[in-house]
Amino acid sequence: MADKLIIFDTTLRDGEQSPGASMTKDEKLRIARQLERLRVDVIEAGFAASSNGDFEAVQAIAHAIKDSTVCSLSRANDRDISRAAEALKGANSARIHTFIATSPLHMEKKLRMTPEQVLEQSRQAVRFARNLCADVEFSAEDGYRSELDFLARVVEAVIAEGATTINIPDTVGYGIPELYGEYIRRLREMVPNSDKAIWSVHCHNDLGMAVANSLSGVKIGGARQVECTINGLGERAGNCSLEEVVMAVKTRRDYFGLEVGIETQHIVAASRMVSQTTGFVVQPNKAVVGANAFAHASGIHQDGVLKARDTYEIMRAEDVGWSANKIVLGKLSGRNAFKQRLVDLGVQLESEADINSAFAKFKELADRKSEIFDEDILALVSEESVTHDLDQYGFVSLSQHSETGERPQATIVFTVDGKEVKSISDGNGPVDASLKAIESHVNSGAEMVLYSVNAISGSTESQGEVTVRLQNSGRVVNGVGSDPDIIVASAKAYLSALNKLHSKAERVAAQG
Ligand code: KIV
Ligand code: ZN
Repeated sequence: MADKLIIFDTTLRDGEQSPGASMTKDEKLRIARQLERLRVDVIEAGFAASSNGDFEAVQAIAHAIKDSTVCSLSRANDRDISRAAEALKGANSARIHTFIATSPLHMEKKLRMTPEQVLEQSRQAVRFARNLCADVEFSAEDGYRSELDFLARVVEAVIAEGATTINIPDTVGYGIPELYGEYIRRLREMVPNSDKAIWSVHCHNDLGMAVANSLSGVKIGGARQVECTINGLGERAGNCSLEEVVMAVKTRRDYFGLEVGIETQHIVAASRMVSQTTGFVVQPNKAVVGANAFAHASGIHQDGVLKARDTYEIMRAEDVGWSANKIVLGKLSGRNAFKQRLVDLGVQLESEADINSAFAKFKELADRKSEIFDEDILALVSEESVTHDLDQYGFVSLSQHSETGERPQATIVFTVDGKEVKSISDGNGPVDASLKAIESHVNSGAEMVLYSVNAISGSTESQGEVTVRLQNSGRVVNGVGSDPDIIVASAKAYLSALNKLHSKAERVAAQG
């Protein structure tokens, strides 16, 4: 039987560290359920000690998830490790993931510790974690830029303390496939007890080689766990993309000879869910999950695919979930059909009242848009789950006037702490006028660093999905809004970003 490649998903931890990608507990829970449905082996649910919000999210995921191992990151100290263990209490299968930097640069400049101190702290951290959890992963942060001899001593020591997985990250995306794979191979060779643990790779994408480096770590280095994220979400240029690494190993089984347990037909839904939740739009030509990944525009290609699909297709679109892109509900669909579709999509709304409210919004949308796709439902519930009673701002209504040769004007009504306010502004275009109308009342002073509009499901009948990224006093947040009217979607996105900006979540960075 072929070896198994363990898929460790860190969308909810490393992915979330992407500026603006922070998620609420409910959003994380929804994504965790989709990851479980994908049959991801390990879900890194967060970094429990970094904030109360993260602690609660890890705890909620640990309770809800039954078929995947749930993991929390922790620095290599007793407090972080205890917090992780506490958050994971009650999980069917739990893992503590502890890390410390091992490269000369990080040890000297960031940690201000000697190599011997780092070695001792690694040992103690794993010993402490093993007393709380049988499954302990140790990561050598900036492992790929570490000195091999020193790293081999650290890894040998932590395996002796009981670490069950050893992860060697390319934290800064410096690796070249052949060299990174060879580095892992050499290290495994130098560590006398290397066979007592599973080896793992964790690559960042700064030079666009995260997937290639991870695959080389598997093929040349002999790693049997890959750490990755949906859509390659992650800090800076992101992490290794789950969908790419999984489809590479599946499609080229002849070369890798490995099994992966992922139910690939849920990949596209997972990709959409992550993109709609975080506002990080997937580029059209992105492998596997981009809108054009299976589109053949040239006549020669179309002709070839019609005659025999494998002339130009190495994977089947339906195998990664593209066939799910069909009309699912319409104006006449009832509450039960809507509820069932939510279940099929892995969406669990907390109460009957939440379902009723989402169903009312669905009916409203179905009146304006005859065909409702899965993406519309996901956008609707994303919006539902980011709208909370505690939100400071809420959208009520908008009207605007624009005519060639005239400066557009917008009038918006929105709530501030439950009280309706009306604001009017002009602007360069109707979107600009609407957002200026909000800002002229709110005076947030935030700088807009990104504004993007995306058609959720193709045609002009589609809902527009808008992402607004705001920056203020070093904080970056993304707001997402959807509506068939893109000006309304823009106003909703702006208000959602303001709500996030004003919720003061303090976090400790994993690589600070
Ligand atoms: O990139 C990295 O080194 C990490 C570790 C904390 C595992 O994310
Ligand atoms: Zn990382």
